[in-house]
Amino acid sequence: MRDTVTPVEAAIHLDHVSKEFGKPGTEATYRAVDGLNLDVRPGQMLALLGKTGCGKSTIFNMIAGLTEPTSGTVRVSGRDPFSDFDSFRGRIAIVFQNDRLLPWRTAIQNVELGLEMLDVDAPARLDRTCLCDQRQYSLMRRAVLGAG
Ligand SMILES: Nc1ncnc2c1ncn2[C@@H]1O[C@H](COP(=O)(O)OP(=O)(O)OP(=O)(O)O)[C@@H](O)[C@H]1O
Ligand SMILES: [Mg+2]
Repeated sequence: MRDTVTPVEAAIHLDHVSKEFGKPGTEATYRAVDGLNLDVRPGQMLALLGKTGCGKSTIFNMIAGLTEPTSGTVRVSGRDPFSDFDSFRGRIAIVFQNDRLLPWRTAIQNVELGLEMLDVDAPARLDRTCLCDQRQYSLMRRAVLGAG
């Protein structure tokens, strides 16, 4: 089995990636990720382990296109996840450490949020998210779609 994977076949490719927080060029700058090289091939499972604050979430945020590296190159399936963010919509998923529930929405509406962002219509969203029993489902369907 090979230990290395070339960038061309990598699903995730990081080349000398660094991320600094704070004002660039000042002493207030903090380098959270420093020159990271990483290649992950399609289907490969990878665990990033490290003590708290070592930069794991920062790395995931760059791979997901949520934050831009200060320097270096991040590629997912050959594309830049930050500048090409829209093309990854619905194709990259993250389970965050803390919940990201919107308190003004119901539990089901929170579950529906991802489908809303993918422009899935209300009936299809309900079909795919409803966790309740058949009777509750019928009532909710009537409430969302109106009688009929
Ligand atoms: N937006 C930010 N502004 C300034 N510093 C930040 C920011 N985000 C992260 N940091 C700092 O960068 C470092 C890495 O943070 P990160 O959240 O990536 O660590 P982590 O490995 O995920 O930690 P944990 O195991 O606690 O989740 C930490 O010192 C953190 O304080
Ligand atoms: Mg973290």
